[in-house]
Parts: sequence; C-alpha cells; structure tokens
Amino acid sequence: MEKLKITGSRVLSGSVITSGAKNAALPILAATILTEGRTRLFNVPGVVDMITMRKILQNLGVEAKEVEGRRDAVEINIDSLTSLEAPYDLVRKMRASVSVLGPMLAKYGRARVSMPGGCAIGERPIDMHLAAFSKMGAKIEMNHGYVEASAKRLRGAEVCLDYPTVGGTENTICAAVLADGVTVIDNAAREPEIADLAAFLNKAGAKIEGAGTSRIEIEGVASLSGVDYTIMPDRIEAGTYAIVGALCGGEVVVQNCNPGHLTVLLEKLAEAGCYVSATDNSITVRGCKRPRPVNIATHPYPGFPTDLQAQWMALMAFTEGTSIVREAVFERRFMHVPELRRMGAEIRVDGDTAAVTGVERLVGAPVMATDIRASASLFLAGLAAKNTTIISRIYHLRRGYERIEEKLKGLGAAVETVDD
Ligand code: UD1
Repeated sequence: MEKLKITGSRVLSGSVITSGAKNAALPILAATILTEGRTRLFNVPGVVDMITMRKILQNLGVEAKEVEGRRDAVEINIDSLTSLEAPYDLVRKMRASVSVLGPMLAKYGRARVSMPGGCAIGERPIDMHLAAFSKMGAKIEMNHGYVEASAKRLRGAEVCLDYPTVGGTENTICAAVLADGVTVIDNAAREPEIADLAAFLNKAGAKIEGAGTSRIEIEGVASLSGVDYTIMPDRIEAGTYAIVGALCGGEVVVQNCNPGHLTVLLEKLAEAGCYVSATDNSITVRGCKRPRPVNIATHPYPGFPTDLQAQWMALMAFTEGTSIVREAVFERRFMHVPELRRMGAEIRVDGDTAAVTGVERLVGAPVMATDIRASASLFLAGLAAKNTTIISRIYHLRRGYERIEEKLKGLGAAVETVDD
C-alpha cells in the first residue's frame, strides 16, 4: 500500500495552479445523462472520484473517454446507454454516485441505484433527494439495498428542502430540467458548484434561473443537446493551498482560482495574522511566525466550508492560544483529531466542537488518513511539523487532490511516496 513520506519544517514558496472542481465535475458528468449525443467537458480534475464516476457511466453502457492528448478533458456519448442501474460496488466507493439517480429518472423514467451507506464523516442519508422526487410524482421503493425510482414523466413541483443539501439540490435540478412544467426549489443550497451545474445544463438547453441563490426555478424542456463545457476551479483545493501558504509560507500564490468563492477563508486567514491579497483569479498568502487563534464554525455556502475544517484545524494547531472549531454540517467530522494529536497537537473535542490549543511545534509521526479532507489536514500538519511524517491510506487523498505531491514539490516541499 502506498504511503506518503513528508519531511517537514521547510519554508514553502512559489505558485501552484488550481485544478477543476471535483464537486462540480461529478454532478456535471452525471448530468450528461440528460443530454443527447456528444458532450465534452474540460478542466476535469485528474482525481480518482472522476474515474469512479466515469466507471458508473461506462457501466450504464455510456461511452466516457479521455479526449486524446488532453488529460483534463472527457468526451461522453450518451446515446449508447443500455442500463439504468448503479451497482453497490461502485456506489460504496463514492457517495456522489447517487447523483445519477435524478438524471436517469428524468430522462428514462426509471433508475435503480444502490443505497449509499454511512461514511467516515457521518450517516449522510438521501431522504431529501427522494422526498423531492416523490413530490415530482416518482414512485420510490427500497429493494435489497437499492433505491428503485420510476415515473412515466416527472412533473414540476414546489420543493422546499428541510436543509440546503448540496447533492439534494443538484439531484432535484436534474430531475426537474426534463419534467413537465415548472419546479421551484426553496431553501436550495447556494454552493458555487450548483451554479456551475446549472450553467452547464442551461448551455445544453435547460431553463434554470436562480442557481446560486436559495430559490431556484426550473422550467422543464423536452430535450437537452450535447455541448462543450469548462468546469469551474476547485475552491476547496485552492483553499487548501492558501492554508499551506499560511502554515509554511514564504509566499504562496494560488493561481487559476476564484477568490470570490473563498471570502470567509481569506478573512479568517487575515484575522490569523497572515498577509492575504487576491486578484480576479489568484490568491497570495504569506504566513506569519505563529498565527493568532481564530474561531470558525462550518456552515453551508457562503459560510466556512466543512471541506476546509480539517485543514483549518491543522493551522490552528500552531497558534499562540486557543481557538474553537465547530462542525455544524456533518455529525462526526473530527476523524483527523486523534491523528493530529499523535503529532503533538492539543485538541479537546466535546460533541460538535473542538478546542485547539496551539503548540510551538508538532513532531512528525506515522498517521492514518480517514477521508479526503482529513488526509489533507494531516498532509498540511506534516509539512509544518518537525522531522518525518508518514501518512497511510492515502487513496483518500487521491480521491480529491490532483497531483498533490507534484504541486507541493513545486513549492519546495520534501514529499515522496513510499511502499509498505
Ligand atoms: C457535498 C460535497 C461534500 C461537502 C458537502 C457539504 C460533493 C460531491 N460533495 O456533499 O464534499 O462536504 O456537500 O458542503 O459535492 N443530509 C440529509 N439528508 C439528505 C441529504 C443530506 O440529512 O437527503 C445531510 C447530510 O447527512 C449532511 C448535510 O445534510 O449532514 C449536508 O449534506 P449535503 O449538503 O447533502 O452534502 P453532499 O451533497 O453529500
């Protein structure tokens, strides 16, 4: 099994280029099911989750291949689809697989998708996705661990989500674009990835208004055509590298990103005492000797992203004082805490809240990754710690970060993969 070996305490500087957003590319790839003919997606990140989503499409009989000579581009030909089932073996690898449910149901009137189980960061049910489909006239049944959804043609409906679920909003949009009549989603998630999905669908001929706000209106259309579309930059990857700058800078310039998607993080970094500046498409962060403790609480967008909570905690482990980190989106997203403690971090957890008392130094240790962002947190801590850190189970990291070793080496990090 591959592990990562990081020799820490180096000052990192230089620039790093952001890849396309995994969390936009995944639902957009699933949404190509709604189209006819050929679609080409560009700025697709080279991460394992994208390979899993391609496999899900290929398993449906869809052609999904890399555009020749472009490792960031995928070409999909939906017309070869022969199956409407996403099996357990693929869905268990990645919960975002459920995003094929809405598109299949809307276009083909039927879908069979394995129920995703709970995962390291929480139970993560899909009840709100299913309630929205029911409201649109679908019949939903559970059989042998599978969700079976069917409807001759979905009809537009008023859907008020109990919580602004990202995946639920995306699945409902996809179900609505080919439905009969108008669908209104209230309390919709406002994440930029939702606006990106809607921009893709609108380019293909959909009629979606208000994506990126909490009220989205979708007028159903008869069909969507294949298009070329470029995925937005990954704000979580960009935010992760901005925190690298705060922790190990030097001066780190994060390029090809949208700083407008990271307003809260950048404010918090400045509060922590870092130099932060931004242009239209780049962020510059200069670290300070010891950051100031800054409290955060995670919230749906535009609040502090839960996907940056673990990385923020790695930064707070080095402050002069105590900060409070509250996780309000997922119920058990503190799996990185015991691992950070192994490196000498002082963190007390009480329910959804962690109190992080900064120390002058962490010392490298063998640690284990448990999910994508927890791995990034351990990576960051390892870069700033004394001596060597060995991270095992780095397949989690591969799910969401494209060429992370190469990108960090470009900033001067000492990192290599080692085998067991
Ligand atoms: C997406 C992101 C993930 C991010 C999360 C929150 C993708 C592929 N993944 O996940 O990286 O951490 O948003 O920003 O885009 N919930 C329910 N019932 C539902 C749906 C959700 O109870 O039907 C709960 C979840 O258990 C969780 C909360 O709502 O506690 C937020 O989940 P949601 O916004 O749906 O996250 P995902 O779409 O799964």
